[in-house]
Amino acid sequence: MYSASSQSAPTTQQNATTGKAAGSFHVDYVGATDPEVIVANLEFIFMADCQLGAFASFSGMDAADVVSYAARGMRVEEGPRIDGFEWDADRYAEAIAAANDLRPEFVVMGGDMVDDPASEEQLEAVLRITSRLDASIPMFWVPGNHDIAADTVKPTRHSIDKYREVFGPDYYAFDRGPIRFLVLDTVVLDSPQQVPDELDEQLAWFEREVDRAGEQQRQVILFGHHPLFVAEAGEPDSYWNLPRELRRHLLEVIHRGRIKNAFAGHWHRNSIARDGDFEMVTSGPVGYPLGDDPSGFRLVSINRGAVTHRYAALSDLPTGEAS
Ligand SMILES: [Fe+2]
Repeated sequence: MYSASSQSAPTTQQNATTGKAAGSFHVDYVGATDPEVIVANLEFIFMADCQLGAFASFSGMDAADVVSYAARGMRVEEGPRIDGFEWDADRYAEAIAAANDLRPEFVVMGGDMVDDPASEEQLEAVLRITSRLDASIPMFWVPGNHDIAADTVKPTRHSIDKYREVFGPDYYAFDRGPIRFLVLDTVVLDSPQQVPDELDEQLAWFEREVDRAGEQQRQVILFGHHPLFVAEAGEPDSYWNLPRELRRHLLEVIHRGRIKNAFAGHWHRNSIARDGDFEMVTSGPVGYPLGDDPSGFRLVSINRGAVTHRYAALSDLPTGEAS
């Protein structure tokens, strides 16, 4: 399942369903080894928080709950209590079908694949649905707090090992042409109390990778589950962002490495925030939304170094079956 080391060559595959060439959604490498000439067109999909089981966890709300969540900036629906994860699984299946139709270079799942870290059923369903993704499209996993921490907050040696057995490394790098993508384990970064060595090792790795990319004149793009910040770099610590002291350190490395883009989930809403020329995108969920934007994912395009993106609602996307 895990395919971080995959280095698929650029292709001009035909879409088996539509018969059309994957023209607008494939990679053109132009002199990838020449630092002056960079990727002309690379498109990928950033998903987050399919979180199978979250819909049931947020069910059974009454009017008072709705008001209480609204006071904390979250939008939840009033309704009866339900069980299971069919609702979330349906949305994830739609997202995978849409990805098959769009034929991106790769898909990133930005964490919180399941709601209950102990549920084998939820995990199996995530893997089963993911296996429908076309074999030519690699899936890159990012660990979320519901995936790599048994208490959904603090990872342990055991919970990290368990995650790695299923999904592969929790932090890693992969390249496409001259671009280096770095996946961070923000769960460890956020709550390293029980695994301090993991924090030290990851931070040392991150600095090494950023310095190496600088020497190789590679553009770097970051993925993580928690955003560094949701609205502004100096915002107070909260459940939703990374702790300020660590955030300051990461931002120092980010600015030193001239990194301009990071993508995260966790917030179940959309937000674009900046610190200088660094853009922190927090992207809405494939599963249960806690804001006004519906379930969806983000289409990201890199064109001669310029990164553009847009959030697409699942309801506006092709499902593969319709085309
Ligand atoms: Fe999360």
